[in-house]
Order: sequence, then C-alpha cells, then structure tokens
Amino acid sequence: MIGLFDSGYGGLTVLKALRKRLPQYDYLYLGDNLRVPYGSRSPETIREFSEEALHFFFKKNIPLTIFACNTASAVALPCLQEKYLRTPNVTDSVASLADKKVLGVIIPVAEKAIKITKNKRIAIVGTRATINSKAYEKELHKLDPNIKTLGQACPLLVPLIEEGWHHKPEARSILKKYLAPIKDFAPDTLILGCTHYPIMHDVFEDIMGTRVHVLDSSTAVADSLADYLNRHPEIESQLTKSSDTTNSSASAKLGTVTFTCTDAPERFSEFAQKFLGERVIAEIVKL
Ligand code: DGL
Repeated sequence: MIGLFDSGYGGLTVLKALRKRLPQYDYLYLGDNLRVPYGSRSPETIREFSEEALHFFFKKNIPLTIFACNTASAVALPCLQEKYLRTPNVTDSVASLADKKVLGVIIPVAEKAIKITKNKRIAIVGTRATINSKAYEKELHKLDPNIKTLGQACPLLVPLIEEGWHHKPEARSILKKYLAPIKDFAPDTLILGCTHYPIMHDVFEDIMGTRVHVLDSSTAVADSLADYLNRHPEIESQLTKSSDTTNSSASAKLGTVTFTCTDAPERFSEFAQKFLGERVIAEIVKL
C-alpha cells in the first residue's frame, strides 16, 4: 500500500495520476482538512503537522508514503527524512521504522521542467511557504545553473479551491492578478507548485496562453514513482504486502483506495467523489 498525504483536496490530483499510471497498488489517502491551508503557516507549524501525518502512516506500517503536497515537501520533508530515515539512533520510538520510504513532489517536477524548457525561463506558483522556501529554485539551479526563475505566491487559491469556488469569475480575476508579473517575465514553463492548482489547470492555461507549458505535479510524480519502483524491486515487493489499515478489508484486494481526513468527512467525500468521478466514503481520523 502507498500512503498519500496532503493538507486537503490537493493530493487527489496526485492520486488520480498515480492510479492511472500504477493502478495495481492500494492507496491510503490522508487529507488534513481540519488544518488546511498549510501554505500560510510558519515553517515550524508545517513541520509539526507534517510530522504528525508521517506518524499516522508509520503507525499503519505503510512502506512508502508520498507527500502529495508541495508545502510539506518543500518545508518539512528534508528534515523529516533526515530525522526518521537516515539517522538510526534518534530516541523517538517511531524512528525505528528506518526502512520506510517517504518521497516528495519537488524533485520530480523540477526534473520534468528542466526537460521541457527551451528558453530557460521557468516560473513557479505555489503557496507562500513553498515560494518563500525557494525549494524549486534550489532544485532547478542544481540541475542547470543557467535557469532563470520567478516565484509567485498565490495564497488565495487554496481556500477558493477548498470552497469549490475555483471556476467562479472571482477566482479567475484573482488568478489573473497573480499571473501578471509572470506574464511579464515571459517563461515558457510554469510549474504549478501546489497540488491543489491542477484542479484549475484550465484557468491557468487560458490566462497564460498556448506558448507556456503549464506543468502540474501529478503526472511528473506518477512517472517518477513508476521509474523509482522499477529501479527498486525490493520496495515494489513490499507494497503488495498487506498493511494495518483503517479499513482492513480495503487492503485485501489490489487497486483499492482508503480515504481518510481529519474533519467533515461528508464534505471531503463529496468533493473527492466529484473530482475523481467515483464513489468515495472518507473516514475521519485523529492525528
Ligand atoms: N496542496 C498543498 C500544496 O501542494 C497545500 C496547500 C495548503 O494547504 O496551503 O502546497
């Protein structure tokens, strides 16, 4: 089973792409919708919330967890990987689970953007925390020091999406304002550095025009995970073993998804159902 974590609905975009690319696995989705949005919070708080989410997957013995959230991947993942997965002697009891893998979304997306760009001008939109972290810029410059970048925080988009307002004219005019400096920068590639944003991919494309490649995390993450599992058959084989899940009957058969959230499961289920086009019954969990 593969764990997927986001602050709310955003990780559903990654889940959709993963199920298309890797339908044979079971997935456990966690949306921390009680505390969404993460992106306007301090790095310390984002790390604390992300660590609690990681414990949730560790306790369920999930061998591979994906932070399907740019904010958590940018701000919390490097130090959590360091704490739990690379340091065998830390005193925290959960640290004994050093064989677990936790992956984020930044590196696969940065790698894909470098392959796409021709004019070496890449813009990034994301939450305030992701943009302030400069995580994308760091990865892009590691891959090609000549890349020119521009980051733009779009803090109002996640609340609009969580409210289901993303296709209203108000959302479009807010997005137009956010994208104005990016249009002046004239990139040929725009990274949607927040997993919520693909939910309004069409609006981004419409405003940016046909010359700009609007790149979202979901397919990049799915391709990169498929490649990673090919190169690591020892992890691939662990994913098919049954785990201690919230809904154990769901793990008996391959290709199932267990949805969990931290608040208002009916609302979560309704949104997920609409977005994924299938029946969703989310279960509430405490972190
Ligand atoms: N979907 C998330 C991301 O990719 C989090 C958004 C938020 O909670 O602010 O950054």
